[in-house]
Amino acid sequence: SITAAVANTDVISAVGASAVSREVTVLFGSQTGNSQRLAGSLSRKLEEQGYQVTLASMNTFRPNGLKKVENLLLLVSTHGEGEPPDNARSFYEFIYSKRAPQLDNLRFSVLALGDTSYEFFCQTGKDFDQRLEELGGKRLTPRVDCDLDYDDQVAEWFESVLSSLNGQSNAHALAAEVVKASEAAESEGSDYSRNNPFRAEVLENLNLNGRGSDRETRHLELSLEGSNLQFEPGDSLGVYPENHPELVDAIIGAMGWNSGETVPFNKKGEEGTLREALLYHYDITVLTKPLLEQAVQFSSVSGLGELLSPGRQQDLKDYIQGRDLLDLVQDFGPWQAPARSFVTILRKLPARLYSIASSWKANPDEVHFTVRAVRYQAHGRDRYGVCSVHCAERVQPGGTLPIYIQHNPNFKLPANSDVPIIMIGPGTGVAPFRSFLEEREELGAQGKSWLIYGDRHFVTDFLYQTDWQRMLNDGVLTKLDVAFSRDTEEKVYVQHRIMEKSREIYEWLKEGAHIYICGDEKHMAHDVHSALITVIQQEGGISPEEAAAYLEDMQQQGRYQRDVY
Ligand code: 2AM
Repeated sequence: SITAAVANTDVISAVGASAVSREVTVLFGSQTGNSQRLAGSLSRKLEEQGYQVTLASMNTFRPNGLKKVENLLLLVSTHGEGEPPDNARSFYEFIYSKRAPQLDNLRFSVLALGDTSYEFFCQTGKDFDQRLEELGGKRLTPRVDCDLDYDDQVAEWFESVLSSLNGQSNAHALAAEVVKASEAAESEGSDYSRNNPFRAEVLENLNLNGRGSDRETRHLELSLEGSNLQFEPGDSLGVYPENHPELVDAIIGAMGWNSGETVPFNKKGEEGTLREALLYHYDITVLTKPLLEQAVQFSSVSGLGELLSPGRQQDLKDYIQGRDLLDLVQDFGPWQAPARSFVTILRKLPARLYSIASSWKANPDEVHFTVRAVRYQAHGRDRYGVCSVHCAERVQPGGTLPIYIQHNPNFKLPANSDVPIIMIGPGTGVAPFRSFLEEREELGAQGKSWLIYGDRHFVTDFLYQTDWQRMLNDGVLTKLDVAFSRDTEEKVYVQHRIMEKSREIYEWLKEGAHIYICGDEKHMAHDVHSALITVIQQEGGISPEEAAAYLEDMQQQGRYQRDVY
């Protein structure tokens, strides 16, 4: 059989290359679950191939164990301004600390997940790669940095990892199997996944904000009937949007192209009209450095090349910020670019992830999500969030949206439904907590629950107010605290409520409560984190360092979970 043949080659190559150890440690740092799932599939494949595999999240791996590791495969994503995911933070700090051991016997390789539209693209992966080398490690194979559409790059890394581990000639086929297995793990028994989205019928599309609000937040309900898709509270919904038709037409006009011309949609050989390509298949609203580097070949002016010269990094950063493909084609024309060549340098239009706002158990075969329409002015023109404005303006009940489920193992209700939960979610960050509470209501859970919510105005912006009211009456929601920031002279935010209730928060923590934070990462999640440290410090009568360690400990136990963006 095929397996036996593969196993035989293995034995031969292992004997031949006796220097290669059969032990492999696979560590992942994952916020939304991608590197975790990839690490799992890779580990299973390595085990099938006869390796002794240790698979662990970076926060459960004893960092001192690193000294004994001979082959380390490290998969990690990057967040915000180049930061490690929550479950990689303590390990990251350890290997950068004086306590980090010398690793002269280590062979390693890093797979970095990221997004080229961020300035600090794959920074965490780059940091680990550099630091492991500084500590004496030798690279098994070079680091690979992945963009959002990562499958090909992941397969490439798997292949070179597998062949450098034991020089296998079938590494290419094995790598393809790992990618397939990971995709199957992603879709969990459904035919639909990130690469094969389900066209879900739209059942409902409501504006949650009242008249006179300066914000528009849509609540969408989709049917999952016939898809076999299921999810748990805390999972996310991937939504493939359509680009704004006006923007597409403006780009085609500015380039003097013909919108009916046939162009490729992707590398798989699918094709169709240029207008379809720009509406549904390519990213036209985000400029990245790799895109500009490729566009240079088509520009007949020198300005773009100059902007990319080594001394002008800051100018490049300033230019990219807030600009889209229409700006690029207007600013650096005339172009010598046939549409069919030009589109091949564009990124695939990525899906947007939204925290799911409903419980599958409470609403079988439905999925609800919450999206705030992003509209603003920049560089003299109106700008629109691609997916949010598509949902707000061009998605009606009866229509469809291509979607998939993104399971998130790092944002989950306690397994025991008697455990108290504290949920902090201002703005659209409240969405997953509707799912949490619907689920607990459905299960008849006995655990206490506390929701701390905030937005601008009580009258117009109280998202899902009637749901919370009903849940309070039913007892599934024990406590609700709100912070409306623009109803009073002085701003009140969720962290102010946390400080006011510090004694009670601390009591809940002592009772074993889990804390969940969802929403804005840059400001809110950071400020709430500081507020929690102050609460623990004050009420526990301990130092700020001890309070930070207390929270760190909660994070390691899965009692402090964040879904922030
Ligand atoms: P603001 O717009 O009045 O500043 C949801 O967007 C809510 O989060 C709004 O009430 C918003 O207030 C508030 N918010 C803004 N910055 C915040 C921060 N750093 N911490 C907590 N809440 C914040």
